[in-house]
Amino acid sequence: MTEKTFQPGPDQTPAFREALGCFGTGVTVVTTNTASGPAAITVNSFASVSLSPPLVLWCLGKESNRYDAFRAARHYSIHVMAQDQLDPALKFARDGQDFSHVDWAHDHAGRPQLADCLARFDCELADCHEAGDHLILVGRVETVMYRRGQGLIFKRGQFGKFNDLI
Ligand SMILES: Cc1cc2nc3c(=O)[nH]c(=O)nc-3n(C[C@H](O)[C@H](O)[C@H](O)COP(=O)(O)O)c2cc1C
Repeated sequence: MTEKTFQPGPDQTPAFREALGCFGTGVTVVTTNTASGPAAITVNSFASVSLSPPLVLWCLGKESNRYDAFRAARHYSIHVMAQDQLDPALKFARDGQDFSHVDWAHDHAGRPQLADCLARFDCELADCHEAGDHLILVGRVETVMYRRGQGLIFKRGQFGKFNDLI
């Protein structure tokens, strides 16, 4: 494809989405506890924000059926998915209430924690910012788990793995 330059607007949404997809990300699953049980959502908008205090963010789509559940969440866990966790990442993108396909347990704050992820950030909600069709949730990280291993990568609408260049 030849180079394309445009001003984002309603008629350019597919191109805007395609351009944003050039930026490869990891894949996370955010979990929280609700009155009707554990809830999860697959998210690639995760980003680190601050080392001191320890803050991370993710963006919640306002159109999502899970908006109310995550908008109300005071405690949540962000799981960085390992390369072999494509299946749960896809399942949680489709259905945020079915946890039957994963090993998990509640922590002391009620946060559902998934087994076998590469890293986990247990957060308390610190701040929320309205941002167009998304809500930015900033969390203060209370506990961190991480291990060695390869992460799941998402780029241009596809899942893959990381290849070292050097
Ligand atoms: C790779 C990937 C990344 C995603 N990233 C986000 C995200 O950052 N924020 C978000 O709100 N939804 C994200 N989603 C979409 C949600 O996982 C979910 O599919 C969407 O909220 C629709 O849920 P619903 O059917 O309950 O409305 C992502 C989905 C995939 C597959």
